[in-house]
Amino acid sequence: MSTEMKDPRDLFMHELGDILYAERTLVKALPKLQEEASDDELASGFEAHLEETRQHVKNVEAAFEKLGETPKAEKCPGIDGIKKEHDEFVANESPSQEVLDSFLTGAAARTEHYEIAAYEGLVTMAEAMGETDVAELLGKNLEQEKKALAKVQTIGKRLAKAGAKEKATA
Ligand SMILES: [Fe+2]
Ligand SMILES: [Fe+2]
Repeated sequence: MSTEMKDPRDLFMHELGDILYAERTLVKALPKLQEEASDDELASGFEAHLEETRQHVKNVEAAFEKLGETPKAEKCPGIDGIKKEHDEFVANESPSQEVLDSFLTGAAARTEHYEIAAYEGLVTMAEAMGETDVAELLGKNLEQEKKALAKVQTIGKRLAKAGAKEKATA
């Protein structure tokens, strides 16, 4: 068994490594999501969030460095699970393009909620440790995740309404 973790700073470093893994995973996944989306607003939203996500990786790496540590990713089964749900749905359900677009808004919202929870925890811990610069850096990521969530929720609502209307008139 590994030794007991007692220092809250070690927990913080673990959580920082976890979100680093998640952000790096998203940099790889977002181009695929953009390709899958047929709705223009959704596709361009993924494209814009890819640029932001690249910056999220840099901000997290900068947070490590500010704390005098080398950036170290920690395998994050949470984000792997969200990705797996997406991959399995696409492979097993053969969704129509309309259904796929709606599904992607849900998958994106799940991802943003996950990131928001991670950054809220990290900002809270950084503030508690008196690491104001680090809290500020991670707070920037948090704000962009919140905006990304709001955007994808708006698109999701529009697609759901359009889908229901189409069904009613079919
Ligand atoms: Fe992010
Ligand atoms: Fe995000």
